[in-house]
Amino acid sequence: MEKDIKEIMLTEEQIQAKVKELAAMLSKEYEGKDPVFVGVLKGVFMFFADVIRNITIPCEMDFMCISSYGGGTTTSGTATVRKDVSVDLKDRHVIILEDIFDTGTSLDFTQKYLLSKEPASLKICTLLDKPERRRPEITLQPDFVGFTIPNEFVVGYGLDFDEHFRNLPYIGILKPEAYEK
Ligand code: IMP
Ligand code: MG
Repeated sequence: MEKDIKEIMLTEEQIQAKVKELAAMLSKEYEGKDPVFVGVLKGVFMFFADVIRNITIPCEMDFMCISSYGGGTTTSGTATVRKDVSVDLKDRHVIILEDIFDTGTSLDFTQKYLLSKEPASLKICTLLDKPERRRPEITLQPDFVGFTIPNEFVVGYGLDFDEHFRNLPYIGILKPEAYEK
């Protein structure tokens, strides 16, 4: 598996330091608000687990799953809800946790969908932001960003190529040959 990685973009240490920083910021901002963290599966599972165990205030968590990408590296431009949240989000302070903000299609959809549940507030925390890839009509901005990265397709730490590489503890760039398998 590691032989398919051309370059490590973010090491395990860099990611873990950033996770602690984000969790400290969120714990401070949401003190006394009993927020609900909503993870968008599957890519966020590792980031979610690491952030949440560093949150020091009472909170709830939930997950949703939307379809956006097919098997490859390009976006379809539309999304549907595959698994909905089960917590009632009405009048709650909600934070969406995402692995990556790429073209923006998924988060734009998720944000609009969750807003329809009338939360008291809704913010977005994404580990990675790839602003160069944003579709021009997307004006949504993430509220908390771990790392802003260049326009490279990355894998690891929850992110996949064709459902593989999610288990890597770091984030890396794939060798071009790996796409051809
Ligand atoms: P968006 O809708 O284009 O913003 O894409 C969001 C989703 O696309 C993410 O949740 C990922 O599943 C996937 N994605 C976007 N960029 C990458 C990448 O570089 N590596 C792996 N998955 C990605
Ligand atoms: Mg994903």
